[in-house]
Amino acid sequence: PNNLYGASRENSSGVDWGNPQQLAEQIASLQKSGELPHAAPSTLVGKIESTPHEVRNPANLSELVGYVSAASKEDIALAFDKAGQARKAWDDAGATHRAACLVGAADKLRAHRAELVRLLVKEAGKTLPDAIAEVREAEDFCRYYAAQAREHFAEPTVLPGPTGEDNKLSLRGRGVFACISPWNFPLAIFLGQVTAALVAGNSVVAKPAESTPLVAALAVRLLHEAGVPRDVLHFVPAAGKMFGEVALKHPALGGVCFTGSTSTAQFINRALAARDGAIVPLIAETGGINAMIVDSSALLEQVADDVLTSAFTSAGQRCSALRLLFVQDDVADRLIELIAGGMNELHIGDPSLPSTDVGPVINQSAASKLEDYSKKVTQKGVKMLKQCDLNQVRTEGSYFAPRMLELNNARELTSEEFGPILHVVRFKRENLQSDVLAAIREAGYGLTLGVHTRIESVWQEIVAEAAVGNIYINRNMIGAVVGVQPFGGEGLSGTGPKAGGPHYLFRFATERTLTVNT
Ligand code: SER
Repeated sequence: PNNLYGASRENSSGVDWGNPQQLAEQIASLQKSGELPHAAPSTLVGKIESTPHEVRNPANLSELVGYVSAASKEDIALAFDKAGQARKAWDDAGATHRAACLVGAADKLRAHRAELVRLLVKEAGKTLPDAIAEVREAEDFCRYYAAQAREHFAEPTVLPGPTGEDNKLSLRGRGVFACISPWNFPLAIFLGQVTAALVAGNSVVAKPAESTPLVAALAVRLLHEAGVPRDVLHFVPAAGKMFGEVALKHPALGGVCFTGSTSTAQFINRALAARDGAIVPLIAETGGINAMIVDSSALLEQVADDVLTSAFTSAGQRCSALRLLFVQDDVADRLIELIAGGMNELHIGDPSLPSTDVGPVINQSAASKLEDYSKKVTQKGVKMLKQCDLNQVRTEGSYFAPRMLELNNARELTSEEFGPILHVVRFKRENLQSDVLAAIREAGYGLTLGVHTRIESVWQEIVAEAAVGNIYINRNMIGAVVGVQPFGGEGLSGTGPKAGGPHYLFRFATERTLTVNT
C-alpha cells in the first residue's frame, strides 16, 4: 500500500483512566470557579448587546455555563475587510511560519485540555470520553496540517524545463475563507476547518455554531496566542442566516468551508453561484443516512457491541453515526435481542460522570424533533423494538431515550434523524443487491458504511458497489482518526476533500506556475 504520507502522522495521547490521579484531576477540573466565559466577536464595532445571550448546560438547563454576544452585520463585514487586508502578508510569511503557529496551538490545546474538556461537557453535553477524544482530534488536526503544509507548501515544486526555461509550481492561499462549523464537534471540526485554511495561506472569518460558541472562542484565543495575527483570524459568533447574508456576498471572500446539513450546503452553493465576480469554491461536509450491513456469517456479539457504539455514542449526534442496520433475516431475531440487551445496560445521564455512556442531545428543540419523528413513524406502523429507560435522568436536561425501530423497507427512511435512533431492516441474502445496495444508492448519501461478515467476497462485493466515503469492515463506524482514516463523504454527503487526509489542504489553495526564460 501507498504509505507516502506516513511520515506526516503523529497522533496525540489521551487521559489514562486506569491512572486514578489523572482521572481525579480531569473530574476535578469540571468544577469551574470564578468568572463565566463570554464569547464575543473578535472585531467589535457594533455595540455589544446589553444583555448577552446565556449559554446553558444541555444536561442541566438551570446551569449557566457562559455568555455569548452575537456579531452585528457591521462586525461581520469589518471582519472580512480586515481579513482581506491581512491575508497577503500572512500568505507571504510562508508555510513554515504558519505551520509553526499550528504546532504552537497544538501544544496550547494540550496544556489547556482540562478547560477544553470542561467546556465540551458543559456547553455541548459531551461525555468525558467524547470530550477527551475531541481535544485529541483538534490537536491532531493542528499537527497533521502543519506537517502537510511543511511537506507541500513550503517550497515550490520544480518542474521540467525542456525549452531551457525554469518552471516552478507554488501553492498560495485563495483569500479569506469563511469557516462555518457545527455544534456536534464544536472544537475539532471548528479547528480542523480553521487551521487548514490558515496554514494554506488564507485568512479566516470563523463562525462557530450558535449553540457552542464558548469552546470555539477559547480555541481562537489559543491560536492567537500561538502567533496567528488577530486580523488574520476573526471570530464571529452570529446567527447562520445573518452571517451568510454578509459573508457570501463579501468581495474578499476566497472560499467557504462548511460542515452541517445537506440543505444548508446546497443553499450556500446556490448563493455562491449567484455572486458576481470571482468564482468561489465550497468545501462541504454534510450528513448521511449511514448503513451497516450484517450477514449471517458475522460474529453477532461483536456486531451488537459495534452497533451500540455506532448508533448511540455521542447520543447519535455524529454525522458518521449508524442510522440504518440491514440484517440478514436468518440472524435478525438473535441480533435484535443482543442489541436490546445492550441497550438495557447503557448508562444515560450526566455526561460529567465517567460511567455515563449517553448524555443529552444538544437542546430541547432537538429532543422534541426526535420525539415528534418517533411518534409520527410509530403511529404509521413502524415497530418500536426497544426504547431505553430515562428514569434516572434529570428532567431539567434535554434528554432523548435511545431507541431501536424496525422498518419493513429501507426506503421508508428518507431523512437523517440526528440522534440516538437506530432503524433495523431485514434482508434476504439473494436480495443484497436490490434491497440493500440499491436502497443505499438511491438515498444518495455517501458518508459512512459498516459491514459485518466473515466472508471476504461478501464485503468485497459491497465495497465494489458502494459510493461511500468511509467504509468500515468488522468494526464500529465512528471515530475516524486524523491521518489514519481521512474523513468525508460524497454525493449528498459532501464535496470532499477528506478532513485529516493528505489531499485536504490543496482545496484551500490556488496553484501558480512561474516560467522564467533564463
Ligand atoms: N469524524 C467523526 C467520526 O468519524 C464524525 O464527524 O465519527
